[in-house]
Amino acid sequence: MLTGKRILLIIGGGIAAYKCLDLIRRLRERGAAVTPVMTRAAEEFVTPLSVSALAGEEVHRDLFDLTKEAEMGHIQLSRVADLLVVAPCTADLMGKMAGGLAGDLATTLLMATDTPVLCAPAMNVRMWQHPATQRNLAQLQADGVAVVGPNDGDMACGEFGPGRMAEPLEIVAAIEARLGAGPLAGKRIIVTSGPTQEPIDPVRYISNHSSGTQGTAIATALVALGAEVVFVTGPASVPPPQGVQVVRITTAQDMLEAVQAALPADAAIFAAAVADWRVAQVAESKMKKTRGALPTLEFAENPDILATVAQMGDGRPGLVVGFAAETDEVVANAQAKRARKGCDWIVANDVATGTGTFGGADNTVHIVTGDGVEDWPRMAKAQVAERLAQRVAEALGG
Ligand code: CTP
Repeated sequence: MLTGKRILLIIGGGIAAYKCLDLIRRLRERGAAVTPVMTRAAEEFVTPLSVSALAGEEVHRDLFDLTKEAEMGHIQLSRVADLLVVAPCTADLMGKMAGGLAGDLATTLLMATDTPVLCAPAMNVRMWQHPATQRNLAQLQADGVAVVGPNDGDMACGEFGPGRMAEPLEIVAAIEARLGAGPLAGKRIIVTSGPTQEPIDPVRYISNHSSGTQGTAIATALVALGAEVVFVTGPASVPPPQGVQVVRITTAQDMLEAVQAALPADAAIFAAAVADWRVAQVAESKMKKTRGALPTLEFAENPDILATVAQMGDGRPGLVVGFAAETDEVVANAQAKRARKGCDWIVANDVATGTGTFGGADNTVHIVTGDGVEDWPRMAKAQVAERLAQRVAEALGG
């Protein structure tokens, strides 16, 4: 809930401005007050009348409005808010914010404030991918501006790719997270993700195909509910999510140490595909091929990070969740795994041939807990992550 919170909403000039009408409604439903500010360009896309009708407040548009200066100066306007939200944040606004320009009311407010800022970029794919925009994004993030989206998808200009503004409910979740108002506010959660790499010699290693997609989606969903997430990741192929503390590791042993260093935590979710074995003696120099002789590798067992944390006495997180990838007897195997490892829940993935789970967009999971088994319908992996984050919030009393 956002009861008692005031959001200063700066609406930029892009086609996504129409989504702000829904955003205002969603914010007010949650108890927030919305002070709307529109740029001149925004008025080309939505009318100030619609915005003020939904916000229940007058729209601020002019920097040099003497009447308002007498009542409340622009500096004051930006400071009474708990959060400044820029949506849609156009390429032009991003550039001005990153460069510190203050030529109109919106940019002056952003410069004059010490209140946290969240922006929801929206623009054409090429504009988003342009080096100047990416430079501005990095500068804004370095300045402490939180960013939500953009999402991939069909765009109003007919192209496809990243650039669509985040949906109103995603922006609401990001606002709640930024204001520490989500159900997981104040909860610290460790998430492991991606593969591990076990070296053979200085140039070779053993690893697996884990992309880190599942762990990344779970961390994103937890952050959206307000959690503080420590994201311990192997060399994954997808980038880590925004808003988490990223700890990069290579081997299973590194991952165990990083997880132990991140304790105490309220919950730990082990989504990483950890190598079960490592090479017992890592060669110090590159192994050379000798004609006719094949090398023999001896293996040693890696620590089981999930079992180690699940079975620790003092300092064990209140909720420990493991994953299982099964092709047969999915639930029975997951139940046995839960007992063997000592964790609270197992999220069992059905990866049998024909399910399309590996490399696909959807997943069919069963949540095995001490109370029984929940069979979730087939759904998108991001939805699995969101539903799991909700279940974690309920279990932690959020
Ligand atoms: N795990 C871990 N440390 C390991 C191995 C696994 O933390 N050294 C965690 C994984 O992150 C995952 C769960 O344990 O949460 C998977 O258990 P695992 O025994 O590896 O199961 P599967 O990969 O499903 O393989 P198997 O069926 O062979 O047991």
